[in-house]
Amino acid sequence: MSHMSYSNLTQINNAVKRINDYIHETPVMQSNVINTLVNRNVYFKCEHLQKTGSFKLRGALNNILCKLENQNINGVVTHSSGNHGQATAYAAKLLNIPAIIVVPKSTPQIKCEAIKFYGAKIFFSEDTPQSREELCYKLAKENGYTIIHPYDDYDTINGQGTLGVEFLKQVPNLDAVLISVSGGGLAAGCSVALKNLNPKIRVYCVEPFGKELEESLRAGRRLWKGEQKCLDTVAEGLKVHQPGQLTFPILCDLAEQNIFSVTNPEMIDGVKKSMKYLKQVIEHAAGAAVAALFKYNKVIPVECENIGIILCGGNINVDSLL
Ligand SMILES: Cc1ncc(COP(=O)(O)O)c(C=O)c1O
Repeated sequence: MSHMSYSNLTQINNAVKRINDYIHETPVMQSNVINTLVNRNVYFKCEHLQKTGSFKLRGALNNILCKLENQNINGVVTHSSGNHGQATAYAAKLLNIPAIIVVPKSTPQIKCEAIKFYGAKIFFSEDTPQSREELCYKLAKENGYTIIHPYDDYDTINGQGTLGVEFLKQVPNLDAVLISVSGGGLAAGCSVALKNLNPKIRVYCVEPFGKELEESLRAGRRLWKGEQKCLDTVAEGLKVHQPGQLTFPILCDLAEQNIFSVTNPEMIDGVKKSMKYLKQVIEHAAGAAVAALFKYNKVIPVECENIGIILCGGNINVDSLL
């Protein structure tokens, strides 16, 4: 656990104190039907009911508050397919700081509207990670703004880790948790929190098909070739192909090497199952974890009786459903 000095339980507990007054303690739900279907106790952590509709507020708030403790901030800027953008816009407004959010052109309207509603300026980039990052750096330089990275910053990772602390407080006997992975901030932060609080807990990463996290995780080094790219997936929250430079080593240390990979139709089915059994509207990134529960139920050891599923976001374009 060589990376624990950079993200550790003390820092995550400090993040809890820092952000607690600003966020909801989100509820945990169960469905008797799902429990019967998979023959386990499944606990759904409802972060789609978090302010701004996703867990991302935890990381964004902790990050901005940490930066404020150490420096003067003229404003903040970030790049995000939407949820981190909304969260940063909301957090900045709360703290009275101007914000610029760079979003790829393909971002759903619901997410752009929310960013504008929170008072941030939107800049549109091309759909490539390079275009997003370049525009973000350019705007940071031009305006003297501080960059709030969506996942590859320990202040963000520690903020996301507060979710793990909260989940285990609500359900102390969790044996395994399924977490959707894009840049890996959520999974890395929650892994540090969960494994430090109970080293026996298994953390399973859920990925959209094509991410190929398992090969690199098993090798313990990055096997992806070429530049960062966006995956072709219905889950716009899970578009990042390669996890971050800071998050990947944490996942190598703490997550299970079995990666749960789900396809577009499976993620759509996960969203439907959430509506059908839990009556909860979630986005595809969260549907991925629901889908993985059903697809990989036989792979999870039988002794894992109590399974946690993080419903990480609910910002779905409702027109796509009805
Ligand atoms: C709803 C949702 N779930 C999961 C993720 C993945 O988070 P991370 O990039 O920290 O892996 C994102 C990222 O945008 C998201 O918006």
